[in-house]
Amino acid sequence: MIDGIGIDVVDVARFQESLERTPALAQKLFTESELTKPIAGLAARFAAKEALAKALNAGKGLPWHEAEVINHESGKPDFLFRGEIADLVDGANVHLSLSHDAGIASAMVVVERN
Ligand SMILES: CC(C)(COP(=O)(O)OP(=O)(O)OC[C@H]1O[C@@H](n2cnc3c(N)ncnc32)[C@H](O)[C@@H]1OP(=O)(O)O)[C@@H](O)C(=O)NCCC(=O)NCCS
Repeated sequence: MIDGIGIDVVDVARFQESLERTPALAQKLFTESELTKPIAGLAARFAAKEALAKALNAGKGLPWHEAEVINHESGKPDFLFRGEIADLVDGANVHLSLSHDAGIASAMVVVERN
């Protein structure tokens, strides 16, 4: 059954400005592998992490690196969880969808539990 949903949208240009203004921010938010993505993909991954926090009703303070967005060979995005976030997810099936176009990046997350 569905246990939680989350959605988030990010203004890509504003997100880029934030990354440029605070050079340590990119390292704080993203893993090395995520950082290989272009800016719209990074904005979408930030949206994914915000949407995940909503879907888990988790609030602030979780380590951003513990929810890494990866892509399967087909391009389909997915989360890899570690540490505290893996404990919160607790084996749930977490679905992720990303989109970016027209200056906006967005993500939707569904948490499914048996
Ligand atoms: C809760 C949080 C995700 C809200 O995101 P935001 O960008 O500030 O706000 P948005 O405009 O995207 O969304 C606002 C809506 O989120 C919803 N929301 C607020 N708190 C929420 C919560 N704990 N769970 C689910 N939804 C929540 C509300 O509906 C709110 O709109 P409303 O006030 O009109 O009802 C954000 O404040 C937060 O805690 N971010 C940190 C996430 C984090 O630590 N991630 C790291 C690990 S992955």
